[in-house]
Amino acid sequence: MSSTLLYWLIPVGVGAGIYVIRKLRELQWGWVRNRSSLQGKMYIITGANTGLGFETAAALAARQATVVLACRNMEKATAAIDAIRRGTKEGMLIPVELDLASFESIRKFAAEIKANYGTFDCLINNAGLAVQTPQYTKENYEVHFGVMHLGHFLLVELLKDLILQNSARIVVVSSKMHEKNAKIDFDNLGKWVERGPRDRFNMLYNNAKLMNFYHARELHKKGYDVHVLCPGLCNTDFFRDYNPKWYHYVMFAPIVWLFLRSSKQGAQNIIYCATENVNTVEKNPATGHFVTNLKQTKSKAAFDDQISERLWKESVREIGLHGSIPGK
Ligand SMILES: NC(=O)c1ccc[n+]([C@@H]2O[C@H](COP(=O)([O-])OP(=O)(O)OC[C@H]3O[C@@H](n4cnc5c(N)ncnc54)[C@H](OP(=O)(O)O)[C@@H]3O)[C@@H](O)[C@H]2O)c1
Repeated sequence: MSSTLLYWLIPVGVGAGIYVIRKLRELQWGWVRNRSSLQGKMYIITGANTGLGFETAAALAARQATVVLACRNMEKATAAIDAIRRGTKEGMLIPVELDLASFESIRKFAAEIKANYGTFDCLINNAGLAVQTPQYTKENYEVHFGVMHLGHFLLVELLKDLILQNSARIVVVSSKMHEKNAKIDFDNLGKWVERGPRDRFNMLYNNAKLMNFYHARELHKKGYDVHVLCPGLCNTDFFRDYNPKWYHYVMFAPIVWLFLRSSKQGAQNIIYCATENVNTVEKNPATGHFVTNLKQTKSKAAFDDQISERLWKESVREIGLHGSIPGK
């Protein structure tokens, strides 16, 4: 075989191999096939103006559900509704302002839900972000902890009467990153911690995703119908704070392409948890199970009940520092 032919065959072979692996992976990711009507059901989705929250809102509306888009920017929420309406006229889409980086906004949002709707069927704690430089919430918590954990924690506490009365479901959008060197650092809870010299990123995102899981475990133990999931690596606005160099694209694009799901594909895990997943005695957040690829999977994280209970107590204490503790 001539060397020129080899130069062509090797990249073509590698490309074809990656393509086949990608297609095999896609088969495992799974789609929610159920199209039954969700008329009369109401879903609240935090961070629904883009990415996974947006796709979830669109899919639930297409099945005639009422969806509250809980977003921090009302212009973006309205634009999202317009975009969903270009695809379906079904369901009801209601924008309500919610900035999870502000306790005042969270309290206002919960009061609005109670006053205007009284009941709902499912709360989807989806909003999230990952940033590279320090950012803080209004109450001065670094944003991964403040928005993804404490903001959602306060929201659930404020809505808990409605949730329990109606046996409403709570869906927690975590990530497999909770398994990757994440820890609950009680000495620095809510503080910005610079990444270590050997870390490529700071661990604050991973830590917050572990807190999401711990939150779900405690909620499950307290009798809530709660479901945790990882959507997989998805092509959304999530990476807006990352600025890869051009050569990173060249080096990593083929590998990323093996794993990267569309936002519609990633949202399937959220839709599945919101409408279909069933917890059992063996498989639930307290036994370390979460949904990925539309299946209950055991987490590799070593959960600790003492940490779980302590995080709950410290979270209640933190929200109590900035106003009355709900229910007291
Ligand atoms: N994409 C992935 O690969 C991936 C993988 C695993 C887990 N996840 C998780 O999936 C969830 C959704 O992420 P995504 O990929 O859809 O990202 P995205 O496209 O960036 O969407 C994130 C949403 O969260 C909202 N948000 C951020 N801060 C907020 C705040 N303070 N108050 C209210 N809303 C806020 C954003 O609103 P704005 O548009 O106004 O900023 C946006 O609507 C996150 O919890 C993320 O951790 C994502």
